[in-house]
Amino acid sequence: MAKTGTVKIAPSILSADFGCLAEEIRKIEKDADFLHIDVMDGHYVPNISFGVPIVCSIRPRTDLLFDVHLMITNPLDFIEPFAVAGADYITVHIETVDDPAEAIRLIHSYGKKAGLSIHPDTDIESVFPYLLQADLILIMSVYPGFGGQSFLKEAPERIHIIRSKLDEIGSEALLSVDGGISEQTAPLAVAAGATLLVTGKAVFGALDPVEMIRRLKACDG
Ligand code: DX5
Ligand code: ZN
Repeated sequence: MAKTGTVKIAPSILSADFGCLAEEIRKIEKDADFLHIDVMDGHYVPNISFGVPIVCSIRPRTDLLFDVHLMITNPLDFIEPFAVAGADYITVHIETVDDPAEAIRLIHSYGKKAGLSIHPDTDIESVFPYLLQADLILIMSVYPGFGGQSFLKEAPERIHIIRSKLDEIGSEALLSVDGGISEQTAPLAVAAGATLLVTGKAVFGALDPVEMIRRLKACDG
């Protein structure tokens, strides 16, 4: 389990009102640790969200760290544009790159932190060779593509496997969990070893998003 008081929260703008995105971000920026930005291409996942122009537009509006999650087929073609647009962390799916080590090196070459994400159906051990090199491991706890889905019951065991391996090798990479995080499921993810919780609907769908972030942060004790 991660140390008490260390869980960080990354609200996903996928569940925000795009018509007033700057205002939505303002609501949560003092309490959130990262802003999670879900980029979908309608190919790797069956949904289209937004791309580089949105990142450019919101970059001057907040100092939050941008945690860009690329759910796209050719992520290497877009590392530079997202880096230039102002991403701080860029995460690619391990299933979408031939050589994950090369992808991490490319992200690092732009001075950005590199994340590797893993689909629920992918063998969890496939990320083991990259744990020392990556700055963030993102475990999908839903099938990627849509906000508001239910947390998969297999997720805690997968989080625990990665937590154990990270601890074994002495990696301080963030262990992020994405999908279906709520007051009910956050304690399961944190108990299994997550240090970063991505949350869309629970925060942006809440009457009081700030209060929800505080409750989610309190779930580690
Ligand atoms: C799903 C996205 C998630 C999503 C999480 O493909 O990667 O980041 O926005 O949303 P919730 O918290 O609503 O499941
Ligand atoms: Zn995401």
